[in-house]
Amino acid sequence: MTHVEHSGIYRLGDERSVHRLGYGAMQLAGPGVFGPPRDPHMARAVLRAALDAGVDHLDTSDFYGPHVTNQLIREALHPYPKELTLVTKIGAKRSATGDWLPALSPAELTQAVHDNLRNLALDVLEVVNLRIMFDRHGPAEGSIEEPLTVLADLQRRGLVRHIGLSNVTAAQVNEGRRISPIVCVQNHYNLVHRNDDALIDTLAREHIAYVPFFPLGGFTPLQSDTLSEVAASLGATPMQVALAWLLQRAPNILLIPGTSSLQHLEENLAAAELILPPTAIAALERLGGGRSLDAAG
Ligand SMILES: NC(=O)c1ccc[n+]([C@@H]2O[C@H](COP(=O)([O-])OP(=O)(O)OC[C@H]3O[C@@H](n4cnc5c(N)ncnc54)[C@H](OP(=O)(O)O)[C@@H]3O)[C@@H](O)[C@H]2O)c1
Repeated sequence: MTHVEHSGIYRLGDERSVHRLGYGAMQLAGPGVFGPPRDPHMARAVLRAALDAGVDHLDTSDFYGPHVTNQLIREALHPYPKELTLVTKIGAKRSATGDWLPALSPAELTQAVHDNLRNLALDVLEVVNLRIMFDRHGPAEGSIEEPLTVLADLQRRGLVRHIGLSNVTAAQVNEGRRISPIVCVQNHYNLVHRNDDALIDTLAREHIAYVPFFPLGGFTPLQSDTLSEVAASLGATPMQVALAWLLQRAPNILLIPGTSSLQHLEENLAAAELILPPTAIAALERLGGGRSLDAAG
């Protein structure tokens, strides 16, 4: 059994399941997710190693680079194994200097789907997350009807199989589900950033996947004495504990930790086999503001 198989599986779309531990490809572009990586050979090696290790869920976007990450995925992995689920996102674009800007107009969304298809060399995108950009730094209320209707039209035209939402509020998830089936929600969540606790539980009851971005803390990985102490007591690394905590947090959580390093990839995938005892979970719960163990199911 590979590490990844220990993470279990979860449905993503009508007829597909993925292992709960996948891989996020954002870190493969250049510094600041802009331009090419310093070592494209290594970036492709990380992608191949992920698949060799059993990863079957890969998260990307054409605005990483832009275009660079998708092109690396195509170069490294095409033709794709049939069990691989590639998930991409649209709704943002990059300025000439690398700023992240909204790109939610009908023309921009349509262009983004075609950019993803071309750069990934696909005829249909398995899952497309609509990344809401009302506030770049976090979810902000406002109707998502207009952009989501555009994406649902692209789905009807056969270019997109399933739709997800990213950087959204619970109200936007509800609004979205009235417009189109939603198979996943991708928001910022980790051990110390737990705004979505209630949303995760709601989505679990509805059998919708929740895919935390920044599962390790993002560009500045999590640092905490408690996390380090728990890790040391278990003979694991802090990042492994952070991932194992997410896996036990709710059955609908799918992980897409990002790394540009083969060593970190191996370390992160091994987290699927780490079982956290109740004392460790209790200590870690305090990092997130003391959510009760009963509610953590
Ligand atoms: N929907 C959205 O708005 C959104 C936003 C951000 C990200 N995402 C997606 O979510 C995925 C995950 O997020 P992320 O990559 O930004 O953040 P992350 O997974 O929380 O953390 C990545 C950072 O942690 C480091 N790291 C990874 N494994 C490590 C380990 N074992 N030990 C020490 N450091 C380690 C990486 O550096 P090294 O490269 O040196 O390992 C990188 O700096 C992305 O790849 C992307 O697909 C989505």
